[in-house]
Amino acid sequence: MCGIVGYLGPRTTYEVLLEGLRRLEYRGYDSAGVAIQVNGHLEVIKAQGKLSVLADLLAQRKPEGRSGIGHTRWATHGPPSEINSHPHCDCEGHIAVVHNGIIENYLELREKLQAEGHKFKSQTDTEVIPHLLEKYYRGDLEKAMQRALKDIQGSYAAVALVDKQPGLIVAARQYSPLVAGIGEGENFVASDIPAILKFTRKAYLIDNGEMVVVTEQNIDVKTIEGKSVKKPVFQVKWDAAMAEKGGHKHFMIKEILEQPDALRQTIGQRIRGRGPTLNLEETKFSDAFLKRIKKIVIIACGTASYAGMAGGYCIERLCGVPVIVDVASELQHRECMFDKSTLGIAISQSGETADTLQAIRMARRQGAKVLAITNVIGSSVARESDSNLYIQAGPEIGVASTKAYTSQILAMLLFAMKLAEVRGAIKPARLRGLLRAIKKLPDQAAEFLAKEAKHVKRLAKKYLWCKRYLYLGRGPNYSTAMEGALKLKEIAYIDAEGYAAGEMKHGPLALVTEECTVMSAVVEGEHYEKSLGNLQEIRARGGKVIAIANEGDAEIEKYADDVIRIPKTDELLSPVLAGIPVQLYAYHVADMLGCEIDQPRNLAKSVTVE
Ligand code: M6R
Repeated sequence: MCGIVGYLGPRTTYEVLLEGLRRLEYRGYDSAGVAIQVNGHLEVIKAQGKLSVLADLLAQRKPEGRSGIGHTRWATHGPPSEINSHPHCDCEGHIAVVHNGIIENYLELREKLQAEGHKFKSQTDTEVIPHLLEKYYRGDLEKAMQRALKDIQGSYAAVALVDKQPGLIVAARQYSPLVAGIGEGENFVASDIPAILKFTRKAYLIDNGEMVVVTEQNIDVKTIEGKSVKKPVFQVKWDAAMAEKGGHKHFMIKEILEQPDALRQTIGQRIRGRGPTLNLEETKFSDAFLKRIKKIVIIACGTASYAGMAGGYCIERLCGVPVIVDVASELQHRECMFDKSTLGIAISQSGETADTLQAIRMARRQGAKVLAITNVIGSSVARESDSNLYIQAGPEIGVASTKAYTSQILAMLLFAMKLAEVRGAIKPARLRGLLRAIKKLPDQAAEFLAKEAKHVKRLAKKYLWCKRYLYLGRGPNYSTAMEGALKLKEIAYIDAEGYAAGEMKHGPLALVTEECTVMSAVVEGEHYEKSLGNLQEIRARGGKVIAIANEGDAEIEKYADDVIRIPKTDELLSPVLAGIPVQLYAYHVADMLGCEIDQPRNLAKSVTVE
């Protein structure tokens, strides 16, 4: 889970690399480095810590050259240190490599190479690549790469430079993302499009088993066996400013506030007319297949899996199709989950999460079809699935997923409507009512943010003393409880647990004392009365209660110490709105505690290792 970038051209190479790495810092940020071709040799500059440390070094040394590679790291093998940071070199420093992924057989390769006399400096798996290139290099980096890759098992996006062939970069991909950016008289490679967006809007999306041979004038895409591949040019439509903080202190708050727009984009042209009607032609599955589905399995991790819980609840209620949700890291070992009558729904913001990808592969191997709900067009999850439903939420940079979460739920809701319609499981009037309610969600999210955001911030301050939280919910808002607890844990580093409210009496109630704050989504609908009962149990034991309840609900005041009001919608859709206050609350608590919100410790945005 690292970020890689490469550049060839007339600009100041280290500045282009730094710019790219800044855009990729969300992929890892424990150390960074560059290698630049300078007058026939490679200058390698690396630093432990944030990118700013490397930037200072580069500003002092100003390496001049027309080609270079860079890397921002999230440690997998070997702790964060200057030695372990990339680029890694061969024995003599003629070849430099940056890599994202894991070389599974690196110990075996390392021992073999050491026995042949190669000297290793780091504890990383990556270092075997430059040594293999050194072993196979006979004046042609492309051929050396092809040969080296035959020895390697695992996942990689690897980019290499050699001092003897200035003006050449060779990169290869197997399971880790890689794009080649097309410029005029200059070219780029990177893990992800934002890294090159400032310089070009045209790129090739490199697939598994492919490599690119790049010069200032040319990009040749080939298979790793060396066969030419004809690739379509991918036109990037994102605006560079979309990926900036837009004047906010953190990406996270910017992205929380963007939710009305993100939700609007998710709906896009999918709900049409005054009727209204639903148009999800893009999902490509035939009606016959949708009618045949006997079971749905959600394939996702973390926040995306909670979005799957919320959407899955809606599918079960509307369509009567059972939905199983398990995190992808476990799911990939539950081999009896998939068959031909099962639909897997893979949910992933980045589209690059390794566990999710593994579970998708297993599902498809066993005959299931997979629908991908992702944010990143052309991502691995999108490409490895049978069909796609893009959430269109725009780039999400903050490590804590926010706008992607609510948009993922919304995309799931749309799919639930489609499935219910095709299977004849919903009355037309009910479907129209739900579609109308969905269309209102973006405005309701905006209304909530306008009316309640300051109140949520005040509550975060009022409860800043609290070091133990329980998040509760029932039915569709069980997911809100899970997501609320995760948000507080990951950015404010506070102990928080999410529970189905009905489970309290089976153990967690023992945790409730005056030191414990309980946040609970108690929206009007089927689960309302029972949820009130749970709040009573908590207050009887001295616990403090913050309720997320509907506007106009007077009853709730008797059961809660504080109330956050969200607009009223159908209970099935309510997790979209209830998800926003839990994000805002965690954000303000973390901000008041001085936490590093956009880059929480030990975490990275895109988890491309299992
Ligand atoms: O990119 P993905 O949606 O596949 O990522 C899945 C999780 O790693 C992610 O949601 C993670 O839990 C976030 N840090 C939550 O805020």
